[in-house]
Amino acid sequence: MDDKFILDACCGPKMFWFNKNHPNVLYCDLRERKKGFIDTRPNREVKPDMIMDFTKMSFSDKSFKLVVFDPPHLIGKEREYGKGSRMIQHYGCLNAETWQSDIKKGFEECWRVLEDYGILIFKWNDASKKRAELLRIIGREPLFGHPNGSKIPTHWFCFMKIPDFVLGKNPVGEKQ
Ligand SMILES: C[S@@+](CC[C@H](N)C(=O)[O-])C[C@H]1O[C@@H](n2cnc3c(N)ncnc32)[C@H](O)[C@@H]1O
Repeated sequence: MDDKFILDACCGPKMFWFNKNHPNVLYCDLRERKKGFIDTRPNREVKPDMIMDFTKMSFSDKSFKLVVFDPPHLIGKEREYGKGSRMIQHYGCLNAETWQSDIKKGFEECWRVLEDYGILIFKWNDASKKRAELLRIIGREPLFGHPNGSKIPTHWFCFMKIPDFVLGKNPVGEKQ
């Protein structure tokens, strides 16, 4: 896996990728869907390299240089994956009861598997839950994105995993 130094933690139909089969990217998702699962877009498919739950990843710490995290942002019911709105069939949904802890665990896993000074790109859409609530749940400050809000509901946040000893926090066991 040495050549797979970029992780897409929940690739879905890979809509935002210019190259949907980039040799240096490991595409993961919780599910797989065959071509035609969205009847209006017959070429769409969900075909991850690996089926994986972003709340409990199987990778060692610090395995990737870049992680992209674009979790579902609509609240829905699991069963809607099969027959609900097209948006939910296409992009999945969050669980109404557990979404905060799911997103927090997912973010923490992305952080854990990122190497020091690695970059985490987080994409969020304000449709169901506002970005202020999301950032509070994550508990880390992005370097840049949309600090003053935006009329556009889709937000891209850039985080860098700057080690705590560099930030001056100096947790136990870290070098000084
Ligand atoms: C917004 S879509 C990703 C869209 C993708 N970035 C694109 O460019 O098309 C979110 C994806 O997260 C997946 N997902 C939801 N919960 C997950 C989990 N716990 N672990 C891994 N993937 C999950 C869904 O199956 C869905 O495909």
